[in-house]
Amino acid sequence: MDTPSLKPESLAAQALGWVDATTRAISPPIHASTTFIRDADNQYRTGRAYARADNPAFDQAEQLIARLEGGAQGALFASGMAAATAVFQSLAPGDHVLAPKVMYWSLRNWLMNFATAWGLQVELIDMTDPAAVRTALKPGRTKLVWIETPANPLWTITDIATTAALAHAAGARVAVDSTVATPVLTRPIELGADLVMHAATKYLNGHSDLIAGVLVTREDDDFWKRVKAVRAYIGGTLGSFESWLLLRGMRTLYLRVRCASASAQRIAERFARHPRIEAVLYPGLPDAPGHAVAARQMHGGFGGMLSIRVKGGEAAAIATAAHIALWKRATSLGGTESLVEHRASVEGAGTPAPPDLLRLSVGIEDTADLIADLEQALERAHG
Ligand SMILES: Cc1ncc(COP(=O)(O)O)c(C=O)c1O
Repeated sequence: MDTPSLKPESLAAQALGWVDATTRAISPPIHASTTFIRDADNQYRTGRAYARADNPAFDQAEQLIARLEGGAQGALFASGMAAATAVFQSLAPGDHVLAPKVMYWSLRNWLMNFATAWGLQVELIDMTDPAAVRTALKPGRTKLVWIETPANPLWTITDIATTAALAHAAGARVAVDSTVATPVLTRPIELGADLVMHAATKYLNGHSDLIAGVLVTREDDDFWKRVKAVRAYIGGTLGSFESWLLLRGMRTLYLRVRCASASAQRIAERFARHPRIEAVLYPGLPDAPGHAVAARQMHGGFGGMLSIRVKGGEAAAIATAAHIALWKRATSLGGTESLVEHRASVEGAGTPAPPDLLRLSVGIEDTADLIADLEQALERAHG
């Protein structure tokens, strides 16, 4: 079915409405073959030779996410890290890149310890401050500006449109880690981004049962061809069953993200002035530093991620996590179940997470149940 006018909710629910041509099945078959038959005249007219590069199991999920993001093409990867690092690995030694000081910690560590060893000049800056971006850009030398918004674990907000305009004027590409916003809330390509990245492990799949990554490009240009080549050569490809699972997860993306966002907003408001809490970090709160920008570039909610700073410091924060019962005490985010985590324990030295910070991933449980559980944990921790 031609679907140009359908809303994203409809496209996601029906995974673009594809029907299997052989069986008329509405859930796709899982293509497991690693290799494909050559034509009699020695050609590969199907465009498929070997599944590391050309797995048909990727097609529907890649086209769906590209459509939801408003991009030209999508590419699945074995993890969010495989997707993100493929972008940096497509640059050349000596290229200058800007990345935020507040960002997903594993990627920051990889940038500082591995990307630099390969010759990239990585500079970490306050990406939320356009003046800092302007100062750090080296026209002609800066090839990539990496944005994460809202950014782990403080949920700081970067103005994508302003940053993209500055980066483009200096000749740099812009990539946005939009894992937390998802296309439900923000469409970075419409705001000027060249690439969008997702840890599909999180909201896109949404069920804490799959590690996956996604890139979407604005254009099928030479840089995108390099990114695809990096995937094919290095082999950070997703498995066939995992691609199928991801597609299934994306069918309910809009319901899950809206539910989690609405719940997170209520939780943030409930605890913003709680006697046991120092601060709530959530872009949906009117006094959050990034609220005005978030209100411009996020639509229909501010996401399911927030952090709380517990009065009494690190010990009180860890004790609160220990007393929580309904929220699961585990890392990760974006699943149906709510998670709580003492973030400084995970990130270690150099983390921007203060020691009293608990990171909360709000799932789709009843909001009142989540609030009651957090309240009893705070009481017992201070008991
Ligand atoms: C914002 C963000 N980006 C990237 C990643 C990396 O994704 P993955 O764990 O699938 O490699 C994560 C994982 O936590 C993340 O939260």
